[in-house]
Amino acid sequence: MRIAHVSDVHIHRRKGLNHYNILYTLFNAFNTRIDLNLLDDLISDLKTLKEKGELDHVLITGDITNTYHSEEFKVFIEKFKQLDDSDWYESKFLSVVPGNHDRGHFGNFSKKFLRRIYPDRFKNKDLHPIVKSFGNNIVLILIDSTGEFPLSNLLLGSLGKIDRRQYKRLLETLRRNKDKFKILALHHHPLIIPYYRRAAQLTVLRKARKYLIDFYSLGVDLILHGHRHYPFNWIHEPTPLSSHKMTVICASSVARATQHYTNIFNAYNVYHIEDNKVTIRQRGYIDGQYKWLE
Ligand SMILES: [Fe+2]
Ligand SMILES: [Fe+2]
Repeated sequence: MRIAHVSDVHIHRRKGLNHYNILYTLFNAFNTRIDLNLLDDLISDLKTLKEKGELDHVLITGDITNTYHSEEFKVFIEKFKQLDDSDWYESKFLSVVPGNHDRGHFGNFSKKFLRRIYPDRFKNKDLHPIVKSFGNNIVLILIDSTGEFPLSNLLLGSLGKIDRRQYKRLLETLRRNKDKFKILALHHHPLIIPYYRRAAQLTVLRKARKYLIDFYSLGVDLILHGHRHYPFNWIHEPTPLSSHKMTVICASSVARATQHYTNIFNAYNVYHIEDNKVTIRQRGYIDGQYKWLE
């Protein structure tokens, strides 16, 4: 199975005087918006890979909008429907999880996100975890890590947390799929990204230690996330004392990667999963087009 992992699209359409536009003007770090021409190039690149039969799934790990504005959701849906215009809840080709930029500042979970992305299904209740099976052996589990007001709302909502009830359902799902290759997709990072700039430890997913222990003991194979805008991966290699292998991968941002120690901009990952083994390749935007990064 081949999965394109796209993250942190940050479509910005909100105009006027607001804290996003003020911070954007004052600080370089808030310059995270995607250029809409580049977004079109990204969509056509993914489309080409799909048509060539080189892609089985596209996963987007949150921050699809920059300011949870309805226009931003509209642009996202319009663009990504070109890849798959079926119901994304059930789609075997496209999956998306919410990020902190998609949640707004109030409420227990991403109502705005759910209402826009699953308009026919959302009845004021969290739909996560969303479970998708591929063949007999692979299961992809979508998690909303933007839950639990108000603590996760600090630092502009950048502290992630999995809502308690959702977490309970997640553990049941993992137990039910014990024998399968289990992929978890969420927005926030459960591990510190060590190369990331100052205060890296501050915005790690809350309760990450507990979550990681649970995920490891329940046999999660692959955790895919975004949020940090920095390409990074960590592999727990099996040892005689801990025989399970677990891989955690942070995709770069397709809008704008963190510049520290990397020159890779607007990149996304493509994973090839076969016989429980994951191979990572990356596609980056160079000289006006997407290319494989070797
Ligand atoms: Fe982001
Ligand atoms: Fe984020």
